[in-house]
Amino acid sequence: MRMKHLLLSACLSLALAPSAMAQDITGSGVVPATVANSAERAIGFAANAPAGAALVVVMTDAALPPLDGVALSAAERQAVAAAATAASFDGKAGATLSLRGIGAHPRILLVGAGTTPSSLALAEAGGKAAQELRSEGHPVTIAGAYGDLSAADVAYGFALGQYRFDRYKTVDKKTPPTGAATFVSADPDAAEAAFTSRWKPLADGVRLSRDLANEPANVIYPESFVARVREAFAATPGVSIEVLDEAAMRKLGMGTLVGVGQGSPRGSRLLAVRYRGAGAPDAPLAFVGKGITFDSGGISLKPGNGMWDMKGDMSGAASVIGAALSLARSQAPVHVVAVAALAENMPDGNAQRPGDITRTMSGKTIEMLNADAEGRLVLADANEYVAKAYKPRAIVNIATLTGAIVSALDDQYAGLFARDEKLADALLAAGTASGEELWRMPLHKNYAEKLKSDVADIRNIAPSQGPGASLGAHVIGFFVDETTPWAHLDIAGVNQADKATSLVPKGMSGFGVRLLDQLARGEE
Ligand code: BES
Ligand code: ZN
Ligand code: MN
Repeated sequence: MRMKHLLLSACLSLALAPSAMAQDITGSGVVPATVANSAERAIGFAANAPAGAALVVVMTDAALPPLDGVALSAAERQAVAAAATAASFDGKAGATLSLRGIGAHPRILLVGAGTTPSSLALAEAGGKAAQELRSEGHPVTIAGAYGDLSAADVAYGFALGQYRFDRYKTVDKKTPPTGAATFVSADPDAAEAAFTSRWKPLADGVRLSRDLANEPANVIYPESFVARVREAFAATPGVSIEVLDEAAMRKLGMGTLVGVGQGSPRGSRLLAVRYRGAGAPDAPLAFVGKGITFDSGGISLKPGNGMWDMKGDMSGAASVIGAALSLARSQAPVHVVAVAALAENMPDGNAQRPGDITRTMSGKTIEMLNADAEGRLVLADANEYVAKAYKPRAIVNIATLTGAIVSALDDQYAGLFARDEKLADALLAAGTASGEELWRMPLHKNYAEKLKSDVADIRNIAPSQGPGASLGAHVIGFFVDETTPWAHLDIAGVNQADKATSLVPKGMSGFGVRLLDQLARGEE
């Protein structure tokens, strides 16, 4: 009898094993959690270049600058100048010239920044240098014709450009860089202070955003996204973190957010990271990001080709968090709340069906006609929640919302939709200053006609072809009070780089971190 009982329980646990495995959502059996990306070069500042390093010279024109603090003999200077002339190197932004065999220098790389370079142009020169030096096996020295403090701008670009996501590569790993990157400056302490107070925190924010977006969906899902974010903000002064799990959201009536995640065994989350710096105003600026950790299209399943891309459908959420990290680590005098609307959009017996009607926490109803138009659904509830819980002075959404914006703007601009002119102008200006550029798109009130539902307050798609990106924006805006300044950024075309540019290596770009950081700082 006892034996039989034991056997039975053994059978039971065997029978349970496969389903228990299916419930194993950590992926830890597959992915070693401790693997780190290849080490980046440490960034430092000095008055004199260390010996034995490769040399980068940031140039503003064809003439080699004086280069105080760099050991370059008269003969070596002459050789570099002659090579630059022979190669018609003009110092224009983006130009590079790599030289070897000059004196004992392992390599001399000239990088153009253009005449009277802006802070962004200097950063781009730094990023270009980092890209060129990816497999350089020596420490590097960076010097140039820029002023003392601007060494920090170049270093910032270098930090963005040297990013890599290679933690899962075990073969064919490109030689990691060896040795530090030293930026030569007549006032290294001041340059270092400028870097650590402003630019390093921003590079950290971009790195976090890229890491979150590059991670596959078996590693980053709503719960693990939250865990990573908690880790990144640990012990940062001025920060408070709030997390709503599914039960909490159901209780609040957040039916459109919970509805999207209901086909996935991975619970949805709403994550809010608030940072309030010294002297900042009471009402925060709210950044609300789409955090679909994987978008299969749900019951309105996407075609298989390129579906893997949708591991990056939480890029908006990753970028609002990255911006908050930058502002908090630099202790900026601003008040922001970064909200990540986190869910996994999967087809399943429990998934919501086209035609389903759900309710947001304010009680508004939405008829879901296509389960693949899910971003607007999670943002509807997230916007209502942040408005109620945090009383923000403005709301900015950022989302990989539509394929239509990719057709319109490709990877050059993110689409900007706004009901508030001042906020739109501030965003456009922040885009230009940060290098993450926006293009204004229309939000006509007549779009409402196309989204009228026969049975609910609004539907999530139009029945026929239309201005897809604008219609998506309209649906989101329907859930934001007309009196709250509101804007939405559609980053579906820019969240991923198919090829490297100076500040963005190939892969997930972290688009929005620099822009929102700039917006928050510029506003105060
Ligand atoms: N996440 C996608 C949008 C997307 C497309 C992002 C391409 C990045 C690259 C979004 O959820 C989606 O599926 N949108 C649909 C909306 C449609 C069903 C109204 C689209 O754009 O096709
Ligand atoms: Zn999506
Ligand atoms: Mn979708």
